[in-house]
Order: sequence, then structure tokens, then C-alpha cells
Amino acid sequence: MFGIFKSKYNLINSGLMKGMTDIHSHVLPGVDDGSPDINTSLSLLRYMESIGLREVWLTPHIMEDYPTLNKKLQQQFDVLKAAYSGPLNLRLSSEYMMDAAFTNKLDGEVLPLGSSHLLVETSYMYPPPGLPDILMKIWNAGYQPVIAHPERYLYMEEKDYLLLKEKGYSFQLNLMSLSGYYGPHPKVVSEKLLKQKMYDFVGTDLHHLERYRPMLDQLRLTRRQLEALEGLIANNARI
Ligand SMILES: [Fe+2]
Repeated sequence: MFGIFKSKYNLINSGLMKGMTDIHSHVLPGVDDGSPDINTSLSLLRYMESIGLREVWLTPHIMEDYPTLNKKLQQQFDVLKAAYSGPLNLRLSSEYMMDAAFTNKLDGEVLPLGSSHLLVETSYMYPPPGLPDILMKIWNAGYQPVIAHPERYLYMEEKDYLLLKEKGYSFQLNLMSLSGYYGPHPKVVSEKLLKQKMYDFVGTDLHHLERYRPMLDQLRLTRRQLEALEGLIANNARI
């Protein structure tokens, strides 16, 4: 009897990702630590096609190390769209580091996910000064903050997650956290947050194929985890 709940199923073979919208990826060429060039971007997109995705949001990092202007992002996006002839629907947004320069961008300089969501992150080690204020400013600027991969923030504890959810902010699971791709701590935390229904969305956060592809091919999840993921994938489609 217990075996039914402990059995694991291959995610790719489950068909759950067929038709999925990915809301987090680093496929745009030459603008961050993701794809370095157009050919790599095209091979990443072909892989995304092969696992069944239907729509991909390109969300390059915007931070001190990558202070890329929207105009440059749009140019790269146009180049990629012209070179790509597959079935994926490509959309442009960004992943914003909530650093000192970030809040100035809220006055009309951000590229949201859809009309009203904004993908944001912090350093893995430390929260930025005034994190609650920054999130409130995003909210007041008319955007729903979507906190990328909360399971990866080493400084966050259970009470921090609860507080952020009480404020009404959204959490985006990095799919591969469940595989241990980012190490044991994000794996344990992601499993817990998924079980507690704390996540709202799921993304691949795909940067490179080398380790990602074999690990995703082998990712096995319990029936309950697959059911939870199904809900997140449905939310992705509505963004
Ligand atoms: Fe990312």
C-alpha cells in the first residue's frame, strides 16, 4: 500500500511538460551567464521543444554584473526570433536582482512577465538591505513579485518563507532543485515547499545543457510531487 505513494515516475515520460509555458530561462544569447551565442540558443530551444514546451519566456539577469539595457535585450530578442523557425512561442522579460539600482527601474524601465508579474531574485548568501521595502515598492508599482527559486536562498528560514507568502508574494520553483542539481540544501527545501503548497509557478532556469539535460532526463518524482507540479504548470499558462 505504502509503495504506491513512494513510487517515483519519470517526469519527462509523465507527459506533464507537454504544452508547458516556461517562465524562467537564460536562452537569450550574449547578455548574461546563460547562452553565449545564437547557435547555443538555438540548441537550447531545440531541447526545450524536445521535452514538450510550447512557450518560453526569456528572462536574462539584470544586475550590477549584467546591467543590460532593454534596447539591447530587444535587439538580441529580434535576432533570435529571426533565426529561430521552430514551434515555440518566444517572449521577452527579465529576472531582476533586487539590488541598490533595482528600484529606480520600477518607473517604467522593467520588462514584466505578462502584464503584471515581475521575476525577481536576491543573492544566494544574503538578503539585500531593506528587502521588505523593495518588495512593497514592486507591489506599489503595480506588479506582483514572483520570487525566483526561493529554495536556493541559504539565508532564508521557514519563518521567512511564511512571512513572504503572508504578504501575498509568489514563489517560483526551479524545476531542477528537486533533482539535487543545485546541491542537497535546495533539494530538501524545494521538496518541503512543494509539499506545503508554497509555490505558485515553476521554471527551468535553463542556462546550459551539459549537466541539465541528463539530470532532467532522469528526474523521477512521486505522484504527489507530479500532482503539485501540474498545478504550477497550469498557473504558468495563465501568467
Ligand atoms: Fe535565472
